[in-house]
Amino acid sequence: MRIIFFIYLFVLSFITAFSQGTEASFKEDQFIDDLISKMTIEEKIGQMTQYTGFFDITGPAPESGDNKRKYDDIKNGLVGSMLNVKGAEQVREMQKLAVENSRLGIPMIFGYDVIHGYKTISPIPLAEAASWDLEAIQQSARVAATEATAAGLNWTFAPMVDISRDARWGRVMEGAGEDPYLGSRIAAARVQGFQGSDLTASNTLAACTKHFAAYGFVESGKDYNTADIGTSTLYNVVLPPFKATVDAGVMTFMNSFNELNGIPATADKFLQRNILKGDWGFDGFVVSDWGSIDELVIHGYAEDAEYAAQYAAIAGSDMDMESHAYKEHLQSLIEENRVDVSVIDEAASRILRVKYRLGLFDDPYRYCNEAREKELTMSKENRDASLEMAKKSIVLLKNDQDILPLPKSGKKIAVIGHLADSESSPLGNWILAADDNSAVSLLEGTSNYSGNEYSYTQGVRLYEGREKFIYELKINTEDRSGIEQAVALAKESDIVIMNLGEHGFMSGEARSRATLGLPGLQQELLEAVHEVNPNVVLVLQTGRPLTITWADDHVPAIINAWQLGTESGHAIAQVLFGDYNPSGKLPMTFPRSVGQVPIFYNHKNTGRPYDADLVFWSHYIDQTNAPLYPFGYGLSYTAFEYKNLSVVSSQNTVDVSVTVTNTGDYDGEEIVQLYIRDHHASIVRPIKELKGFEKVSFKKGETKTVKFQLTEKELGYFDNQGKYTFEPGKFSIMVGGNSADLIEQVIEL
Ligand code: GLC
Repeated sequence: MRIIFFIYLFVLSFITAFSQGTEASFKEDQFIDDLISKMTIEEKIGQMTQYTGFFDITGPAPESGDNKRKYDDIKNGLVGSMLNVKGAEQVREMQKLAVENSRLGIPMIFGYDVIHGYKTISPIPLAEAASWDLEAIQQSARVAATEATAAGLNWTFAPMVDISRDARWGRVMEGAGEDPYLGSRIAAARVQGFQGSDLTASNTLAACTKHFAAYGFVESGKDYNTADIGTSTLYNVVLPPFKATVDAGVMTFMNSFNELNGIPATADKFLQRNILKGDWGFDGFVVSDWGSIDELVIHGYAEDAEYAAQYAAIAGSDMDMESHAYKEHLQSLIEENRVDVSVIDEAASRILRVKYRLGLFDDPYRYCNEAREKELTMSKENRDASLEMAKKSIVLLKNDQDILPLPKSGKKIAVIGHLADSESSPLGNWILAADDNSAVSLLEGTSNYSGNEYSYTQGVRLYEGREKFIYELKINTEDRSGIEQAVALAKESDIVIMNLGEHGFMSGEARSRATLGLPGLQQELLEAVHEVNPNVVLVLQTGRPLTITWADDHVPAIINAWQLGTESGHAIAQVLFGDYNPSGKLPMTFPRSVGQVPIFYNHKNTGRPYDADLVFWSHYIDQTNAPLYPFGYGLSYTAFEYKNLSVVSSQNTVDVSVTVTNTGDYDGEEIVQLYIRDHHASIVRPIKELKGFEKVSFKKGETKTVKFQLTEKELGYFDNQGKYTFEPGKFSIMVGGNSADLIEQVIEL
């Protein structure tokens, strides 16, 4: 009797939840359909139009020219969205211009590049990925959303989920590295961090998965360049992180500048309608990247801006970021029957749907609260979260003779490098809202360890010029005048900390490099200092993998400190002096030389893999195939031993367990990684693929058993028609602390 009662309750609650869900969805559809039915074609096209901020709304209204026209468009309800308008007051006044003057009072949605923090800057996304800590990454996005929404924003152009294997491409700093499994898990965590569990809450905002698609595969690593890849790479490497964000409920997508296999992504109907809106059932909207609709003409795809608007709208690009192509041409295209009005209705509906889910129709000003903005921006809580994220993002690459951690007192320590004193560079690249020079520099960070005596010198100047997104820094390649002083200081010091690498504006959009060494004269500086004092600790500051091969051969200790954001110096100091035991693992392979690029761990075997007795195998005659540091690599101040790998396959699952022991002298965290290899398949599979990881804490001497479960979901792959397939056969199951040092078992499934 009782069981029947419980079954009754379960069914009742299910029906209630289902009916509430369908009722809410019905109410949403009804609201949108009703509004669409009242709108003119011009107003619908207006929803598809996005302008960048063009004047100070609290100042005098524009009285002439382009700005006057845009101003009037907003007042007439012909602008669906603004980007680059920030601050509770600015957003409220701009929103009022639309809501209180236009015929239907439709609110605008305000977007901004909140990529790794708003004012409190977190580590660059590639650094966060090195933490493999999904909870911390989600929290980092949460902090960013809290600050951004307090500043009136309700849409961020993040997460960027472009997989890339090419460190020459400057935007690797913005993603999660080379692996689709890690990239998918991180992408979903970032969406959940930004959007939270209630989009109508005033501290959550709509996320935007970008750049759809294959932007990370630009040829020669040159930004905006062609991407030409096969279907196996598209389905098995590029698309999975995008799909993971749809499964996580992302509200918007942004398409990419590049053409993919001959078709510019902005006009790629197969990508946007067949896959994204069709197979995946995505019900949000797609925004073009900046000006990418007009660029269809420059690509050589559309004859003119009119055709560009036609092709982009029909292909499923719902909103036009700053091309003005839709505003200028869609009405006539409809009148000429070149674009059906249903295309406009669908695009406008998708945009209205996101605004509805954000609660903007209930309260267009819900995000505009100056008191909240003042209270939350750069709060101690937010800075503490950024510091935690930064510490977890640091990767210890080398620590010979246990030179690290450094003593906290009694030493004369030289701190050398232009970057060591920079309060700007550690912020990284996407810092539009951050206060200038708001980072804690490495030099400042050492001040918390005042038991030592520190002396600083710049060594060689790395750069000059304006440290802003829209300017290119000039790298010093001639002025060596600082080397002599640096050498003299090193001679009289016990230890030398050298903070070398790239300025934050040497990676990011439009910052591709044809070389990957230490920029400028830093390598000369490093060698000159090392010659007089080999006790060098290299603290790398970088937005990408670098070929620091000489350093790896000569320098006893190397820390990869990426660009760690506002709390950079404090995080680095805690690692240097042992108050935090580094746990980060590389999300992207470090090459030995740029000639190896693209280089990545999950490569195919080829028909001629390594064979020492032969000349005719896949290799270079002047460089090894091996990377400098492999994917998943990172050291700790302690050590971990892997034993007792057990692999048991049953009906539809493979149960994996391994014992891991902390054999060193420190408590620490280890990221236990699980890889597979499908030895024979109808589409050749990589020699290994990450399919699981666990970040585990260990007291010194402690042993833990770590368990994983594999199903067809992890063991299969996409065939060249995009169909997910699992084929029984011989599999290797591998576990370890990086993608190279693994213990393995082979099983038949
Ligand atoms: C840029 C970037 C894109 C960004 C957008 C808005 O060109 O490619 O990632 O979100 O424009 O700033």
